[in-house]
Amino acid sequence: MRAAHKITVPDTWGRPQASFDVERIRNDFPILKQQVHGKPLVYLDNAATSQKPQVVIDTVTQYYLAQNSNVHRGVHFLSEQATQAFEGARAKVARFLNASNAREVIFVRGATEGINLVAQSYGRTFIKAGDEILISAMEHHSNIVPWQMLCEQIGARLRVIPFNYDGELLLDEYEKLLNERTKFVAVVHVSNALGTINPIKQIIEMAHRRGIPVLVDGAQAVPHMRVDVQDLDCDFYAFSGHKLFGPTGIGVLYGKADLLEAMPPYQGGGDMISAVTFEKTHYNTLPYKFEAGTPDIAGVIGLGAAIDYLSEIGLDAITAYEHELLAYATDALSTIKGVRIIGTAREKAGVLSFVLDGIHAHDIGTILDHEGIAIRAGHHCAMPVMQRFGVPATARASLAFYNTKEEVDALIRAIHKVIEVFG
Ligand SMILES: Cc1ncc(COP(=O)(O)O)c(C=O)c1O
Repeated sequence: MRAAHKITVPDTWGRPQASFDVERIRNDFPILKQQVHGKPLVYLDNAATSQKPQVVIDTVTQYYLAQNSNVHRGVHFLSEQATQAFEGARAKVARFLNASNAREVIFVRGATEGINLVAQSYGRTFIKAGDEILISAMEHHSNIVPWQMLCEQIGARLRVIPFNYDGELLLDEYEKLLNERTKFVAVVHVSNALGTINPIKQIIEMAHRRGIPVLVDGAQAVPHMRVDVQDLDCDFYAFSGHKLFGPTGIGVLYGKADLLEAMPPYQGGGDMISAVTFEKTHYNTLPYKFEAGTPDIAGVIGLGAAIDYLSEIGLDAITAYEHELLAYATDALSTIKGVRIIGTAREKAGVLSFVLDGIHAHDIGTILDHEGIAIRAGHHCAMPVMQRFGVPATARASLAFYNTKEEVDALIRAIHKVIEVFG
């Protein structure tokens, strides 16, 4: 074990606590042990998707080895086992988000589907022609396009909260945009392109003062910080399991029960009904009303294992460790001549977007790949953010709690190599 990997992180009250043993944590992630192009893999593409600990892989495997069965419908042993594990995972998600009731946890395919569900079910029911929907200028496409589609369908208007050159939302402009026509606010908690942590509690409070419900896109927040939906008082909160060290194809939409109760189903099919005749269908209770068809049972159970794993390490310890790692990486990157960091908000999590003078982001990504370093190059599904900064693309290194200072050093050395090659 290398001592350099051990960082002492403060606890909630700022007191030093047991060191964060990143080397031990890395051992839980088999994929991190491999070589890429003859070099040790340095995985810095965590905002796109994160790696899975052995316990998640084992849980999914074990489900298929010993539990595989459909949920909710069977009276036989396997089906009861699968149902218990499935509903147990729902309870884990509810605790993880501090939802007041597991009925408020809807399993979806990911953040994208969660947002589409709200846009189509809540939006088509409660938002009318001439109403306004407010999003921010730093949204991922998945929190833009569903609202644009809704606006086209019902004749509503999409309005956009701007941000400053550091990538911080302009709350005074937000205040001005809120008016009697505003019927919904949908804002990202942590920007995937800039790393900005938005003051989401304040954003929600400002909307609620006018009785406007708020959806939070939490895809990039839940892997990095503790989220308490009751404390935030958000109306909806969406995230994806695969960014939370869980399987792909599974995600969560949290919604306040009274809102979910008032909304019509998003899709029709099995499980979401209580009785069907050709004359009329009676819908199931929450959360099943929004879970038509056979769900991703293995995904849900795997997500539950990921949440257990994270809870054992502790979200506060993860936040503190990543904060230190991000500061270290930001300092190191800032010293390289020709580097411009895109996204310099005071409150940031896990994301370092940057451009290099005269060198395209894809070229940076390609050279880094030869060094075994995985980053992302492109618009990060946030084209309006690129337009705001006048760049076609950025290179983005995104961190997780299994990354190390040594890996950041490798990134910095590789960027120097890029400059040598293209400079
Ligand atoms: C901020 C943000 N929102 C939403 C999404 C969409 O997540 P998914 O593709 O898993 O549905 C992403 C994915 O990168 C994201 O970063």
